[in-house]
Amino acid sequence: MTTQITICGGGNAAHTLAGLLSSRQELSVQVYIPFGNEAQLWQEGIQQNKGITVNTPTGTIQGQPSAVFQDPSAAVSGSKLVFVALPAFAHEPILKQIAAHISPGAWVGAIPARGGFDLCVRDVFKERLSEISIFGFQTLPWACRIQEFGKQTTILGAKKQVDITAWPSVMAPIISARLQELLSMAINPTASFLSLALADTGQIIHPGIMYGLFHDWTGHPYDKPRLFYQGVDANIAAVLQQMSDEIQSLRTALEGYYPNLDLSAVRPISDWLKLSYQTNIVDSSTLQSSFATNTSYTGLLAPMQKTNGGYIPDFQARYLSEDVPYNLLVTRGIAELAGVSTPVIDKVLSWAQNQLAKEYLTSGKMQGADLQYTRTPQRYGFTNLSQFMKKMQYLASTKNNAYVF
Ligand code: NAI
Repeated sequence: MTTQITICGGGNAAHTLAGLLSSRQELSVQVYIPFGNEAQLWQEGIQQNKGITVNTPTGTIQGQPSAVFQDPSAAVSGSKLVFVALPAFAHEPILKQIAAHISPGAWVGAIPARGGFDLCVRDVFKERLSEISIFGFQTLPWACRIQEFGKQTTILGAKKQVDITAWPSVMAPIISARLQELLSMAINPTASFLSLALADTGQIIHPGIMYGLFHDWTGHPYDKPRLFYQGVDANIAAVLQQMSDEIQSLRTALEGYYPNLDLSAVRPISDWLKLSYQTNIVDSSTLQSSFATNTSYTGLLAPMQKTNGGYIPDFQARYLSEDVPYNLLVTRGIAELAGVSTPVIDKVLSWAQNQLAKEYLTSGKMQGADLQYTRTPQRYGFTNLSQFMKKMQYLASTKNNAYVF
């Protein structure tokens, strides 16, 4: 018997996931794409190509999704597993479209989750929350790009292991074991969505390096694009270190308040670099050299746009437009609830919000008009740490009537 699952999204991640999962006999994979004319392009592509081809470093995998829908009810009704494989800004609208049609017992999760995904699901599902289980991946397991829309995608590199979390927390080992089997990769269950949010190093590295490279930019175009990771000098490394230290102070404060809280996955940036890129770092003696001599980062450029006069920074790129409202600000909001000050993170955020033409922090507080477009605790009305920890059940585990398949 086949198990029906749904993938929401039409981009790089969705192509890869759809190709890989629909190659499995035991799954019937439906795709939900309400965006533009993408559903039609997928249908045509799948028909012409007889499915989605996934090019991997070790060979080719061919899968055939059973149907592509623009209608949310047809797309998710009866599915036991629903992946939201989209950039974070699209999570909330998609969840709002599918929430009423999700079958009781389904697992609903994001790949990757980014910060505050659980706050968003809780808000959207409201009284239906107890009918589902939520999961979130720390990151996308692959660097992947569409080759031909609706037809072909390429995995440029795959992570050795990916962390996942789930709510209710009793579901984390169950969901992670099943997804590990389905995706044929190491998936490691971690404690909570709180841990997942604080452990995201992209929130340090992406806005931190953007700030470092461009905070004193005068508006004159550069002759050539700037290197991103290899552009980390001693000053930028100091900013990254201080941002990491501030998140560690938050971890220490939370563990002090809640001795049973497991935040062991929230690692200092240098530990994370060593763990993730052990064999790729030529000189790990300093944080700066760990970036500059990491062969995985060689040649990667800062997001920049070509203009007549040369290259200018692209401040709308995801390093700010995704990592600020859905990552760093979520952490900053939790720090505010915990009474932990974050002066360097605030400096980076204040600069970033100006570049994004948004107002999140005003007078050093999470009270700007654009908080409504974030996933911070403050956006969802939390003003007090114990209320937040209790409502989000970061310390307790409860059972629900989830599918096990
Ligand atoms: P993508 O840029 O390919 O996603 C674009 C897709 O999002 C569109 O094709 C459309 O289906 C959907 N979309 C766009 N605007 C929408 C809207 N307003 N409403 C509904 N849907 C909309 O993104 P990709 O590459 O698949 O990335 C997904 C997530 O994974 C992002 O958070 C990204 O940062 C992360 N990621 C991606 C990596 C990669 O190699 N592609 C690597 C690591 C992380």
